[in-house]
Amino acid sequence: MTPTHEHPSAGTERTRLAPALAEAAARLAEAGVASPRVDAELLAAHTLGVGRGRLLLIDTLRGDELRRFGELVAERARRIPLQYLLGTAAFRHLELAVGPGVFVPRPETELLAGWGIARTVPGATVVDLCSGTGAIALSVADEAEPGRVFAVERSPAALAYLRRNAVDFPSVRVVPGDVNDPELLVECRGGVDVLLCNPPYVPDGTAVPPEVSDHDPAEAVFGGADGLVLIRPVIALAAALLRPGGAIGIEHDDVHAEAVPELLRADGRFADVAAHEDLAGRPRYATARRV
Ligand SMILES: C[S@@+](CC[C@H](N)C(=O)[O-])C[C@H]1O[C@@H](n2cnc3c(N)ncnc32)[C@H](O)[C@@H]1O
Repeated sequence: MTPTHEHPSAGTERTRLAPALAEAAARLAEAGVASPRVDAELLAAHTLGVGRGRLLLIDTLRGDELRRFGELVAERARRIPLQYLLGTAAFRHLELAVGPGVFVPRPETELLAGWGIARTVPGATVVDLCSGTGAIALSVADEAEPGRVFAVERSPAALAYLRRNAVDFPSVRVVPGDVNDPELLVECRGGVDVLLCNPPYVPDGTAVPPEVSDHDPAEAVFGGADGLVLIRPVIALAAALLRPGGAIGIEHDDVHAEAVPELLRADGRFADVAAHEDLAGRPRYATARRV
């Protein structure tokens, strides 16, 4: 970053923030980053240790701050996910710890979490399969009053972040496990009120942005040739775990607007199957009730 707008202040070289931000945003735009201005502001706020809204009150950067900001912008221009650089991902009311080797929670999943929260009555037993860093499980614990939330995850890297994020949520039990295991949570069979899952669901071979292809773990993103390889066992497991009347919600790929509701209907143990879109109007999750 070129310090073109310096002026002396109390004997220290300082650079004006506004042009530094504009230059950073232009560099990120050139690198193909989808939201260059927002990312530049979040990286500047992170460098300065303030919230993004406080940037309006800051005029200049010190030399060391400018250097650190420049380094972060350079990393983001190499398409390292913004959240890895910040060390956190915002999800509903939470700031989740994230880092290299784990899936970054996505805003679209906030809708599935909200659907589950609305169905979680006080004392309910909730299961979040493929929990990752805990976005869904911890939001349910944060915004509803569940008795227990089982957060199931297979990846050791994700489990480390999940345990860290779950520290302040005593209702959340972290369960290392594989959704292909029909004995998973066997002690809860027939007693689960709400089961939620954002599994790996992108069909193998689908083109994805560099942040995803180079950084999100493949096992968190891709769901086999048709993208449904994990969704099938999740539906079978849900049918075994949910109590009659219990609710299931599964996030899925844009191309599965019909396939996932159809899998739920074909199982024969679910009613009230419904398809839901995300805020961008794309098919995003399917829900049903265990009969
Ligand atoms: C799309 S990510 C979702 C993470 C989290 N639920 C979220 O919304 O941010 C899918 C997660 O499933 C985990 N996973 C993949 N295969 C699994 C399996 N067979 N059993 C359990 N977890 C699995 C991955 O490690 C990853 O953390």
